[in-house]
Amino acid sequence: MNPRPITASNLIATLDLEPHVEGGFFRRTYQADHRDMLETTDGPRYLMTSIYYLLTEESPVGQFHFNHSDILHYFHLGDAIEYSLIHADGSLQTLIMGSDVLAGQQLQLHVPGGFWKASRLLSGEHGFGLISEAVSPGFDFADMEMGNRRKLTARYPQYRALIEKLTRDED
Ligand code: GUN
Repeated sequence: MNPRPITASNLIATLDLEPHVEGGFFRRTYQADHRDMLETTDGPRYLMTSIYYLLTEESPVGQFHFNHSDILHYFHLGDAIEYSLIHADGSLQTLIMGSDVLAGQQLQLHVPGGFWKASRLLSGEHGFGLISEAVSPGFDFADMEMGNRRKLTARYPQYRALIEKLTRDED
């Protein structure tokens, strides 16, 4: 038996991850600080940034949030992760990132800026799911909005059950 199995807590320690405001754990691994900043209408941004992002049994949900930037997601290790995307036109897309590509799970996922996104760890043998994200223009909190349950359900009443599962009950 492997004396040091890959577990959620070993990954958090080894990759030096910290809690993310969306849920889960992360660490920024890259920012393009050797290049000129990109001038966007919202101010200067790195050309690209990247993070590790981990969901665990203790923190299994990345709550609904909105981002202006394009985000590429790359699945690495562990159990599959379900993504819920509300497109800019209001339609809902559900898909699964994971290693079982023959069953239709995705190793890569592109989420364009202007979408609402949430993720949820599916139960499996590992108890964690690890991905990376590359964000361009680079991530900035000013470009991100956490989903407020009341506002999101008022805007998308047809997705109420999903939104209640994937947002915090804060009001
Ligand atoms: N989500 C995607 N990229 C980032 C990042 O660099 N920092 C934070 N806090 N969240 C992110």
